[in-house]
Amino acid sequence: MAFGDHEKDPGWQYLKQSREQMLADQSKPYDSKKNVWIPDAEDGYVAAEVTATKGDQVTLVSARGNEVTLKKELVQEMNPPKFEKTEDMSNLSFLNDASVLHNLRSRYAAMLIYTYSGLFCVVINPYKRLPIYTDSVARMFMGKRRTEMPPHLFAVSDQAYRNMLQDHENQSMLITGESGAGKTENTKKVIAYFAAVGASQQEAEGGPAAVDTGEKKVTLEDQIVQTNPVLEAFGNAKTVRNNNSSRFGKFIRIHFNKAGRVASCDIEHYLLEKSRVIRQAPGERCYHIFYQIYSDFKPQLKKDLQLDLPISEYWFVAQAELTIDGINDTEEFQLTDEAFTILKFSEEEKMDCYRLMSAMMHMGNMKFKQRPREEQAEPDGVDEAEKAAAMYGIAQEDFMKALTKPRVKVGTEWVSKGQNLEQVHWAVGAMAKGLYSRVFNWLVKKCNVTLDQKGYSRDYFIGVLDIAGFEIFDFNSFEQLWINFVNEKLQQFFNHHMFVLEQEEYAREGIQWTFIDFGLDLQACIELIEKPLGIISMLDEECIVPKATDLTLAQKLVEQHLGKHPNFEKPSRQRANRLRLTLPCATMPALSATTASTGSRRTRIPSTTPSSR
Ligand SMILES: Nc1ncnc2c1ncn2[C@@H]1O[C@H](COP(=O)(O)OP(=O)(O)OP(=O)(O)O)[C@@H](O)[C@H]1O
Ligand SMILES: *[C@@H]1O[C@H](CO)[C@@H](O)[C@H](O)[C@H]1NC(C)=O
Ligand SMILES: *[C@@H]1O[C@H](CO)[C@@H](O)[C@H](O)[C@H]1NC(C)=O
Ligand SMILES: *[C@@H]1O[C@H](CO)[C@@H](O)[C@H](O)[C@H]1NC(C)=O
Ligand SMILES: *[C@@H]1O[C@H](CO)[C@@H](O)[C@H](O)[C@H]1NC(C)=O
Ligand SMILES: *[C@@H]1O[C@H](CO)[C@@H](O)[C@H](O)[C@H]1NC(C)=O
Ligand SMILES: *[C@@H]1O[C@H](CO)[C@@H](O)[C@H](O)[C@H]1NC(C)=O
Ligand SMILES: [Mg+2]
Repeated sequence: MAFGDHEKDPGWQYLKQSREQMLADQSKPYDSKKNVWIPDAEDGYVAAEVTATKGDQVTLVSARGNEVTLKKELVQEMNPPKFEKTEDMSNLSFLNDASVLHNLRSRYAAMLIYTYSGLFCVVINPYKRLPIYTDSVARMFMGKRRTEMPPHLFAVSDQAYRNMLQDHENQSMLITGESGAGKTENTKKVIAYFAAVGASQQEAEGGPAAVDTGEKKVTLEDQIVQTNPVLEAFGNAKTVRNNNSSRFGKFIRIHFNKAGRVASCDIEHYLLEKSRVIRQAPGERCYHIFYQIYSDFKPQLKKDLQLDLPISEYWFVAQAELTIDGINDTEEFQLTDEAFTILKFSEEEKMDCYRLMSAMMHMGNMKFKQRPREEQAEPDGVDEAEKAAAMYGIAQEDFMKALTKPRVKVGTEWVSKGQNLEQVHWAVGAMAKGLYSRVFNWLVKKCNVTLDQKGYSRDYFIGVLDIAGFEIFDFNSFEQLWINFVNEKLQQFFNHHMFVLEQEEYAREGIQWTFIDFGLDLQACIELIEKPLGIISMLDEECIVPKATDLTLAQKLVEQHLGKHPNFEKPSRQRANRLRLTLPCATMPALSATTASTGSRRTRIPSTTPSSR
């Protein structure tokens, strides 16, 4: 194949290894009987050479130079050198863990981050910007078959686009991997690619269809791409796993007309992590937007928002980190603000949004005290309450009354209900979380409206799913359970879809095949959580039982499941009161695939009881 012009592109070396390198790799000596992989504590697997075999014991010299004797079943075959850095791992003669990992590792060492594994594409996070997402690289992939080009997300995307037009079917891409694997980065590239393809289709038809926003022409494609800075400012935060972690899931659908032109786009969002608005674990930050507002991009803004204390004094956002290495909040705020404009948010809407953020910061500093010998809380100074109320556009007295003596309806009458200090604190936190999640919902809704360009018919769509990735922290909150549960369900869906359906087809076509039960080991755990009498339904039930506590729930769960369900375990002594579940997790570390992952390791998922410390 002649790649002539492609080779001149600065990105090419990160997509295809050079001929010289390929020849060097393939000239390595190899003997299928001698060259093997053996387990290694440090690297997972290490190359070794068989020197003797006796019964089921094999003696080998490892690449580290030491002699080892192992059981035969622990030794894995090595592929011939012609498969070194192969672009599609389904071609390997020996498809075992060691070979798959070796292939990914050696490609990654050469900065070839994309590798196919049959129908899906595996990506390894390079943690550095590679010139492989440029317009010129995108153009190389447009209209090409997957087999004609090296592995790339663009090839997968282009295939989806072509399948959509040829088969008249909607398409979806599932991007999965643990937190920090690169799902969101890759999602952005996919979206940008479709925007570029849709736009080039437009040029071909003649006449750019642009939206006039007054100053300069903004295309729908630009607007689609610009939803990222807005959603990320409000929905992303620093965690210990990822400086830019998505704390919500999203499904973006780009709609096309019959001719393949971008018609509109919509976004569905799931499970925003609300607890972060009022609590941050060590090493983490609240949502980016709070620190962006506090940056100097709009010097007057802090005054307008009455934020006159240093940011470290605002409890709701200052429990852990305040800055992130490598991220300049001033520059990020500029991007957010510009994106707002491109998405047609008015100055007033922007300002309202910032005022609500400021109100939450003030709310976190409001102080209350308990009246002596009474179960009734009252404000302890109203400075911050004044400011929060001003931001909300309500009277401070009404605001305080609603928190300390809320009016509730009893039968047909309205009565004032007394609140103790703890109840008021809960109410303040709940209000901030509720408000934040409504602001987020409003943002997505506004984007939906802007991206729904009337006029073009929505014949097909390509959807891209990007969720919050699997994560295991030292202390896992209630929300981690849902994040991880969703990840497991998707993995299960994927296994079922890819492997089970494939095998059913073999059966239909009469191909001889031993049915393999891929990933069904996840099913038991998923059922433990979601089936009737499972954890979710028991939690729901416990919520309406008067005087129920974490402990009563834990007791009921133990009675129901301990000893009866293989995935249900009682906590160790040190972690008394905290339930744990063991669950096989199929997410590979630091890997993100457009449609898959392999391997399986035992991990633990978080405590099901909200903190009972
Ligand atoms: N293809 C890439 N090129 C360069 N950098 C990347 C790439 N993919 C990921 N990164 C880097 O890794 C970081 C984490 O990636 P990303 O935010 O996409 O992870 P994620 O899988 O969405 O995680 P989470 O589940 O926490 O949202 C990015 O901020 C970026 O610095
Ligand atoms: C891998 O397999 C595909 C399809 O079977 C084939 O087209 C391709 O040439 C193979 N690649 C290599 C490097 O063997
Ligand atoms: C594809 O999605 C559109 C909505 O965008 C829907 O109207 C249509 O029925 C779907 N087509 C198929 C084949 O499912
Ligand atoms: C986080 O995401 C924002 C929005 O896309 C981006 O501008 C920023 O560079 C990202 N930060 C890092 C560290 O990648
Ligand atoms: C965050 O970014 C800094 C600077 O780029 C880097 O050193 C650090 O490893 C990143 N942290 C995570 C969890 O990705
Ligand atoms: C952040 O960016 C702004 C504007 O580009 C610049 O003035 C400022 O010095 C930067 N701050 C840091 C800490 O790099
Ligand atoms: C955005 O539009 C999609 C499709 O119409 C819809 O499913 C989703 O709920 C909308 N989101 C919001 C926040 O309105
Ligand atoms: Mg993400």
